[in-house]
Amino acid sequence: KVLDIDPNAASKGTYEFYMLKEIDEQPAVMRRLSTDYLDKAGKPVVDEKIVDAVSQADRIYIFAAGTSYHAGLVGKEIFEKLTGIPTEVGYASEAGYHFPMMSKHPFFIFLTQSGETADSRVVLTEANKRGIPSLTMTNVEGSTLSREATYTMLLNAGPEIAVASTKAYTAQVALQAILAKAVGEKLGDQAAKDWNLKQGLSLAAEGIQEIVDGKDKIEELAKKYLVPSRNAFYIGRGIDHAVAMEAALKLKEVSYIQTEGFAAAELKHGTISLIEDGTPVIALIDDPVTADLTRGNIQEVASRGANVITIVGKQFAKEGDNIVLPEIDYYLSALLSVVPTQLLAYFASKNKGLDVDKPRNLAKSVTVE
Ligand code: G6P
Repeated sequence: KVLDIDPNAASKGTYEFYMLKEIDEQPAVMRRLSTDYLDKAGKPVVDEKIVDAVSQADRIYIFAAGTSYHAGLVGKEIFEKLTGIPTEVGYASEAGYHFPMMSKHPFFIFLTQSGETADSRVVLTEANKRGIPSLTMTNVEGSTLSREATYTMLLNAGPEIAVASTKAYTAQVALQAILAKAVGEKLGDQAAKDWNLKQGLSLAAEGIQEIVDGKDKIEELAKKYLVPSRNAFYIGRGIDHAVAMEAALKLKEVSYIQTEGFAAAELKHGTISLIEDGTPVIALIDDPVTADLTRGNIQEVASRGANVITIVGKQFAKEGDNIVLPEIDYYLSALLSVVPTQLLAYFASKNKGLDVDKPRNLAKSVTVE
């Protein structure tokens, strides 16, 4: 079923849990961001003041927490590729008290679904004291971080109710891509001008739809490999590494299966000692540069008894891969590859009989430091 986002009614409708509804809304979120922030010809429609301010920066600093931090890790790759501006990503909770060394002309981006995260606010308060220009990308208009930052861009993803963030993550990745394209174009970057993001977001919408339409198969994998397991690993390289970290967070927060996300090659430098017969290792392959190397890492864990699940972009797929993703530009690959990991987490939690939307000990918005 193809869902639209309804920005007002945060109702579950026929869904058992908000999390699945919000996963299913992601194609609509992609289409909406494309309409709101790209014109018909595909040119970014972003406040000129924001584009100017970022263009003047010699370094971009992204601060966030939790899932938003992981979206920032993907954003870093996109900003550096399209703008040539070195970009750093930091945990707001760390930067607030150990302020990173600044370049001469820094620009701060705060990624925050709620716009209320106290850890991020500490960094913003310090940035304001130092006169550093800032942008908050948030889902909540008028939220604290939106009011206190120099600029705001709204995620327009509609209310996100489930504690585990899904559509806000993909919205953050897409919105960072839009801003990166706008800034890259402003700086005269040919790759940014040539980047057909309108088509990319349309492929993302269609691709996510295809993945969510195939969710039954993903539920089977979750039941067979994850539900019986106490631990699991996600591995990937490049953007897949960033997605592996988000995927691990999603699985552990809703299913209580202890999960780590790893740079695929780092496993062999220690963590591979944890692989036993039946340990689930979920491998992501979307990076053209390292696809073959990650295949090698899969061999290493499989030969130690791991149950490997592969999530692979179509152009890299081989016989026996479990989840094959529609083809998309590498820099947008997180928009697709994260979706099966959201569904694996959802189905692991649901099939363990847990309260998917309200995992124990967690809050949607954390307003303490
Ligand atoms: C809480 C939520 C997470 C979220 C994080 C950051 O810990 O449980 O799902 O990613 O806060 O929230 P924010 O609203 O700043 O994106």
